Amino acid sequence: MPKPKVLVTRAWPEAVEARLKASYEVTLTPGDVIHSAADLRAAAGEYDAILPTVTDRIGAEVLAPGGRLKFIGNYGVGYSHIDTGAAKAAGIVVSNTPDVLSDCTADIAMTLLLMVARRAGEGERFLRAGLWDGWRPGQLIGRKVSGATIGIVGFGRIGQAMAQRAHHGFGMKVQVQNRSPIASEVLAAYGARQVASLDEMLSEVDFLSLHCPGGAANRHLIDARRLSLMRPDAFLINTARGEVVDETALAEALAAGRLAGAGLDVYEEEPKVTEALLTMENVALLPHLGSATRETRDAMGNRAVDNLDAFFAGREPPDRVA
Ligand code: 8YV
Repeated sequence: MPKPKVLVTRAWPEAVEARLKASYEVTLTPGDVIHSAADLRAAAGEYDAILPTVTDRIGAEVLAPGGRLKFIGNYGVGYSHIDTGAAKAAGIVVSNTPDVLSDCTADIAMTLLLMVARRAGEGERFLRAGLWDGWRPGQLIGRKVSGATIGIVGFGRIGQAMAQRAHHGFGMKVQVQNRSPIASEVLAAYGARQVASLDEMLSEVDFLSLHCPGGAANRHLIDARRLSLMRPDAFLINTARGEVVDETALAEALAAGRLAGAGLDVYEEEPKVTEALLTMENVALLPHLGSATRETRDAMGNRAVDNLDAFFAGREPPDRVA
């Protein structure tokens, strides 16, 4: 039997690429260039499987029925860049890589929270610019994190990892908003309370941290109206997907002093960032680093290959999402 033909769209950890080479006729992307839409369309006709990432738009034009493509193994947990409806219609199976990046993504969310609350980015810029002339009692005074109230939007694996850090690490009071009810013992594990609606939570929290999926359903979940419900001394943290926040409305709220600050790891049109945010001292901006640790990137690769192996062995891929 010929080996399945597999395209890996970006450069992956070496050990995972070696694992792929052993079992598949694999095309790697050693230069880490982004494949054009036309390349991806052509690949659907030539490969049995594509292993894409967040930087690949896999729309209906790539997933048209009748191609050779049978399986898409996304490298990442979020898959709003893949049209899963079109994949289903074309009989193409899609998997993602949950669990293995929950801790590291929550770590980045907590990093951003601490950075904005304690003005760490601003302080570092101040020092590196040679402006620090010594300790002052009133210098760069921030907000106390320990004991503050955090609102967590989306209480899946990453939301719970954030609650773990917030409650058990920083003694924060945790409020949770989630589409479906969360079991009382899960909430109790983080001393958390589930609120009936997102709006109800907005005026109560010092920090609002987003951990829900992206995609059409949650596009601009945090819009101008919801931002106006937040307290002017509250902070917004987004490590979920850029489209969950109306970035223009966020920049306007910050400029008007209607919000204390924001910590962002994801953006509406990555790698573009709304210009006004770039000059704001009360905003911490990271380049989509949520899962960027050696351990997690290796684990993501292996998880994607586990799904690929299952699919071509005729088993149900464990992380099938479509
Ligand atoms: C990934 C992420 O690195 O997994 C996700 O959903 O947001 C990131 O941590 C990236 O999306 C790779 O696809």
